[in-house]
Amino acid sequence: MDKILVHGGHPLSGSIKISGSKNSALPILAATLLTKEPCVLRHVPDLSDTNYMLQILMHLGAEVERASGTVTVKAEKVESTAPYDVVRRMRASVCVLGPLLARCKEATVSLPGGCVIGDRPIDLHLLGFEGLGAAVRVEAGNVRMFTTGLKGAVLNLRGKFGPTVLGTDNVMMAAVLAEGTTVIEGAAAEPEVVDLANFLNKMGAKIEGAGTRRLIIEGVKELHGTEHDIIPDRIEAGTFLVAGAVCGHGVTVTRVVPEHISAVTDALTEAGFKIETTENSVTVSPNGASKALELSTQPYPGFPTDMQAQMCALLSTTEGISVITENIFPQRYMHLAEMKRMGAHIQIEGPTALIQGVEKLYGAPVMASDLRASAALVLAGLKAEGITEISRVYHIDRGYEHLDEKLGALGAHIERVKAD
Ligand code: EPZ
Repeated sequence: MDKILVHGGHPLSGSIKISGSKNSALPILAATLLTKEPCVLRHVPDLSDTNYMLQILMHLGAEVERASGTVTVKAEKVESTAPYDVVRRMRASVCVLGPLLARCKEATVSLPGGCVIGDRPIDLHLLGFEGLGAAVRVEAGNVRMFTTGLKGAVLNLRGKFGPTVLGTDNVMMAAVLAEGTTVIEGAAAEPEVVDLANFLNKMGAKIEGAGTRRLIIEGVKELHGTEHDIIPDRIEAGTFLVAGAVCGHGVTVTRVVPEHISAVTDALTEAGFKIETTENSVTVSPNGASKALELSTQPYPGFPTDMQAQMCALLSTTEGISVITENIFPQRYMHLAEMKRMGAHIQIEGPTALIQGVEKLYGAPVMASDLRASAALVLAGLKAEGITEISRVYHIDRGYEHLDEKLGALGAHIERVKAD
């Protein structure tokens, strides 16, 4: 397993082009199962997660071609059972359930495991499928569903932690081929959900309200192939902006939608950084002493849970006491124990982290635990004194296209070493 060594203390500057969104590409790749015709997707990031999804599509019988960032999928024939040994490796594979149910009127997919950021239930997904007329059974670690025909219904997918992103995606993908009209109340409004709805509408679906809490979906008989550009990855963009805040002299992210990361740029502005925005770029620069923050993760358009760990890295050396409350995945604090090994002063009280900024962090061997926590440890290492050695970097490769190379291009002294 590779390791990443970060030699701290080298300031970043320059411009980075942001890749296509992982969390948009995954459900959109699943949606290609809804038609026999070819779909062409551009800006699909080259990640282990997207490559797992391509493997799943091929296992299900689809023809897949990838030419750098462009992927063509043609699902002329589709099996209805997704293979355990691939599905278990990536929770997001659960989003083939909706398309399989709609296309094959049955679906068997293994239950996603939990992960370090917390229990990852899919009860709201299954509630939505049942509401559309599917019989759902959970047995031997699999979800099995079948239907004689999906019928439109009024559904509410809001759970105790708010809307479900993949749950909204999954049920929307089932509803587009149901008979009649479906209303989804309590829908997720993330840009990735909007991107999926736009893709489905280009395939001939009739979806209104994407980006709001209420979706109205008029079922159609069939969908056709189409072409689509995946939106930029707002979490990758946010991660680089926080890297620029941690130790930058002016870092610009290009090929972004500034509106998608406004909660992050607002937080950086409040923390005392200068933010400059054009139509498709954002630049962060130091602007005097940075300030401690109170942050609370919320569903979009609130502050994203996927940026919480990165902000902890920044605030760990920001003078004063910062308070972060994690409302989406209350256990999503695995990164804090590792940052404390680097000298951070952090206390966890339930879903809240109290961060007392310290003068500096010190490089240390640390362990990545999940995708965003790993990125946060790299950011912490950028400014730490000495070398930070991050193991289990396969977590990073799940969701970031060449993170080490891109940071190196900005001036970071960072290397990837083959570990035993
Ligand atoms: C998506 O996960 C993202 N993944 C996550 O990004 C992101 O953190 C999350 O949305 C929240 O924004 C992808 O899009 C592939 P949820 P998802 O269903 O859809 C609870 C990353 O780092 N819940 O919106 O699986 C759940 O436990 C990843 O890129 C239920 O209770 O998350 C959580 O507390 C990590 N029942 C909350 O809702 C359900 O049936 C939000 O989860 C489903 C979810």
